[in-house]
Amino acid sequence: MPVPLLDLKAQHATIRDDVVAAVMGVVDSQLFILGEAVVALEKAVAELSHSKHAVGCASGTDALLLALRVLDVGRGDEVITTPFTFFATAGTIHNVGATPVFVDIDPETFNILPEAVAAARTGQSKAVVPVDLFGQMAPLEAIATAVPGLPIIEDAAQSIGARRMIDGEWRMAGESATVGTFSFFPSKNLGGYGDGGMLVTQNDALAERLRRLRMHGGAKQYFHDEVGYNSRLDALQAAVLSAKLPHLAGWSAKRRQNAAYYDRAFADLADVRTPVVGPENESIFNQYTIRASRRDALQAFLKERGIGTSIYYPLPLHLQPCFAYLGYREGQCPESERAAKEVLSLPIFPELTQAQLDEVVAGVRAFFGR
Ligand SMILES: Cc1ncc(COP(=O)(O)O)c(C=O)c1O
Repeated sequence: MPVPLLDLKAQHATIRDDVVAAVMGVVDSQLFILGEAVVALEKAVAELSHSKHAVGCASGTDALLLALRVLDVGRGDEVITTPFTFFATAGTIHNVGATPVFVDIDPETFNILPEAVAAARTGQSKAVVPVDLFGQMAPLEAIATAVPGLPIIEDAAQSIGARRMIDGEWRMAGESATVGTFSFFPSKNLGGYGDGGMLVTQNDALAERLRRLRMHGGAKQYFHDEVGYNSRLDALQAAVLSAKLPHLAGWSAKRRQNAAYYDRAFADLADVRTPVVGPENESIFNQYTIRASRRDALQAFLKERGIGTSIYYPLPLHLQPCFAYLGYREGQCPESERAAKEVLSLPIFPELTQAQLDEVVAGVRAFFGR
């Protein structure tokens, strides 16, 4: 039985009528740019992430770009981040003219290490960009303590609805940072039917400027206070996302259930390390990422059996050819480099059937002769 890494058609089949009605509502209104549909989603995402403001934009990448711009990050500035993430986290730092400063990760959670962030701070440091990788929030409170006063852009592209216990209270992804960013790329837990993104913040002035920056930098049409972008969330995407949002908590809970099933099924395998989520975190498991010995052979074996997997990420960003100018060498972020050689993400989507879960388990166990 084939088991794809992700089956968006299976999810669409469960919500088709609602999504089609939402899309047709926008089509009939002929209001495609911002407007009510976008405002409604912004309100809902602000509520979900316990944030005062939410600002829709064109993608998770643009959300990062706008966050950097609104914090005046530019030429001559350094931004501390993780090399074990999707490219956009660092690509946007480069694109605003700043220098990405890569520091290593915690091998348990794959998230950036607060003490490494502290050690990397210099007089040029302008911001830190922790990533809530695979659906699990980074230790934001420890990062804030490690670099007091440094603005935090939380790249929560993979983690909408995740939460972390901070000072005795559950804090949502996006809630505690200076600016939090989300992606609605179709493979995310809350995925659009195309690109989309959003920023959240508790800060009135930042929110107001973000709204200008996403519309060419003008508060009033044809008058520009600064140079911004055309980076709006499509009303059609907003309508799709609003139709999907009521399902998000249930979908993420199902992913956690699937993860717990795999955890138990692999518990006796010495060659497999299952993901570590501490009691202080509730992950939304955008990915279920194991570490495995003979990872490439395992992936090929599973592929033979029709089981989809992926390697997030095969080459850490400090070693990417485009960042050769920064002068990093192998060995400088050893945990990220080791993770890149060992990680394998398995199917975890909420619509997986029991038979599909068992097929994945049987495949992994068979490879290790168990
Ligand atoms: C960690 C991370 N940051 C940023 C992005 C960029 O988001 P988008 O693809 O919506 O531009 C993604 C996802 O694709 C991501 O996983």
